[in-house]
Amino acid sequence: MVGGGQLARMMGEAASALDVRLRALVESPGGSAGLVLPNAPVGTARERAKIDALVAGADVLTFEHELQDSEYLTALAERGVAVRPSADALLYAQNKLEMRRRLDALGIECPRWAEVATPRELERFGDEAGWPVVVKLPSGGYDGKGVRVADSAEDVADWFRGAGPGGLGGETRVDTALLVEECVPFTRELAALVARSPSGEVRAWPVAETVQRGGVCAEVTAPAPGLDPALAVRAQEIAVAVAEGLDVTGVLAVEMFAIEGEGRVTVNELAMRPHNSGHWTIDGAVTSQFEQHLRAVLDLPLGETSARAPWSVMVNLLGSALADPREVYPELMARYPGVKIHMYGKEVRPGRKLGHVTAYGADLADVREHARGAVALLRGDIE
Ligand SMILES: Nc1ncnc2c1ncn2[C@@H]1O[C@H](COP(=O)(O)OP(=O)(O)OP(=O)(O)O)[C@@H](O)[C@H]1O
Ligand SMILES: [Mg+2]
Repeated sequence: MVGGGQLARMMGEAASALDVRLRALVESPGGSAGLVLPNAPVGTARERAKIDALVAGADVLTFEHELQDSEYLTALAERGVAVRPSADALLYAQNKLEMRRRLDALGIECPRWAEVATPRELERFGDEAGWPVVVKLPSGGYDGKGVRVADSAEDVADWFRGAGPGGLGGETRVDTALLVEECVPFTRELAALVARSPSGEVRAWPVAETVQRGGVCAEVTAPAPGLDPALAVRAQEIAVAVAEGLDVTGVLAVEMFAIEGEGRVTVNELAMRPHNSGHWTIDGAVTSQFEQHLRAVLDLPLGETSARAPWSVMVNLLGSALADPREVYPELMARYPGVKIHMYGKEVRPGRKLGHVTAYGADLADVREHARGAVALLRGDIE
């Protein structure tokens, strides 16, 4: 696996249970995965010699993030390395313009969108679709850093001049055009998570509701409470159609907008790896997204995806007032014995994804209160 963050760390737990020997190329030995994986060479996705060493003797190469060297992945595949998902599929999780074009071609519901190369083109789109609009960097954005709500082209003038947030590798922007979308009046956001194996087996988890704050996933409830069953089925059908249409192998998360008054959903974006919206599956589903990703990329039969309990709620720990949130374990564990804690081994920084908790059970209000209460303690919010 290329990448050494919390996804690689949690993948390691699933790999260990199956005695799958996971080797992760990590950015730092002290990172989330480097701290716990026994076999974690240090390097980045851009270092081809490191990738060569990583795949030597391996059955399959996979990823914890999409910022990969696609050209090299294609060369590896030509050399006979099993690269899953393939570079061809990964493109649609790397570049939002490519994704929009491809989903349109597949006939999959998307928000109204356009590719704009100049402020004038953006103004024209806004005048037709209505202001504000949502402007996105086609690639390199993450956690909302490449997304802006704009009331005029002036609000993204810096992006037209070529500025960008820099990706995980700190690259400068290479895109010349921007993606602009209508500002969708969604009632809520959903995530449809599926896994697909090279043999073509596909399994879908129950559709979850996600809540983003400041562009970052904050809370996930599965299944999405009160969602019209027909809309849930449609969301799953879309995710399966995307997985098959793009020939995805491994876990695919399809982020969606629900416009419930009109009985429809549209696709926001794609992730081709385990995703924050699927962390609830570790404790709340028969097969976790991490185990399923391993099964899928190894072309093993896929596991059951049904929920273990009527409701699961996952809450992210985003920053903490405590230097070490683990100091509240005695209190947290005494107060919430049913809550499952997942910490990523990171040092505390403002807003940083430090971990998550999941609660599950039969009463949604209780489950939610427990998960939120546990995170409030870890944040140092309450006495
Ligand atoms: N067209 C839109 N209309 C309304 N809200 C939107 C639109 N596009 C994005 N958003 C809001 O911004 C959030 C982040 O957008 P998006 O998922 O495209 O960005 P990202 O930085 O790639 O996210 P991630 O953190 O998932 O990597 C969405 O979850 C949604 O809340
Ligand atoms: Mg997103």
